[in-house]
Amino acid sequence: MTKVVCPGSFDPVTNGHLDIISRASGLFDEVVVAVGINKSKTSSRLFDSDERMEMLRTVVAPWPNVRVAGFEGLLTDFCTSNGIAGIVKGLRAVSDFDYELQMAQMNSSLAQVETIFIPTSPEYSFLASSLIKEVAMFGGDVSQLVPPEVLPLLLERLAQRRQS
Ligand code: PNS
Repeated sequence: MTKVVCPGSFDPVTNGHLDIISRASGLFDEVVVAVGINKSKTSSRLFDSDERMEMLRTVVAPWPNVRVAGFEGLLTDFCTSNGIAGIVKGLRAVSDFDYELQMAQMNSSLAQVETIFIPTSPEYSFLASSLIKEVAMFGGDVSQLVPPEVLPLLLERLAQRRQS
């Protein structure tokens, strides 16, 4: 049984993330979507880790071999303690590659956990949670870029932030 992890911040999950998660679910027996809980970055997040995991659980519900978890610390420690053999990462463009290659080599050297890269579908290659938040904050239409369950939560949270 091949179990892999799709790690990320998912603040919030986008259609680009779902593209990679759904394609990984067709390739591997079990996919764990792991939300990084970095306490030092909490204030810069739009959604806290429980909210991000809740949104993910809703949107991955169609795939029975996908589950959602949170992790703190090293990704390789999470992999080792959960019997995970591989890390699945989406590659949007060549600009992602340098950093992703460095992380993949570090993770392999730390714990022999290998990384499998899946090229992002072209229609999602420009998506990033940070960019979507910026566009939505200034009133741009992001309805085709995030899952329909996420859109109202995103707009509501941005409206709250504007008022505070
Ligand atoms: O969505 P992001 O912000 O690109 O996700 C980054 C994430 C969480 C996958 C990455 O920062 C990570 O793996 N963090 C865990 C800490 C760790 O293992 N660092 C060493 C990486 S070689």
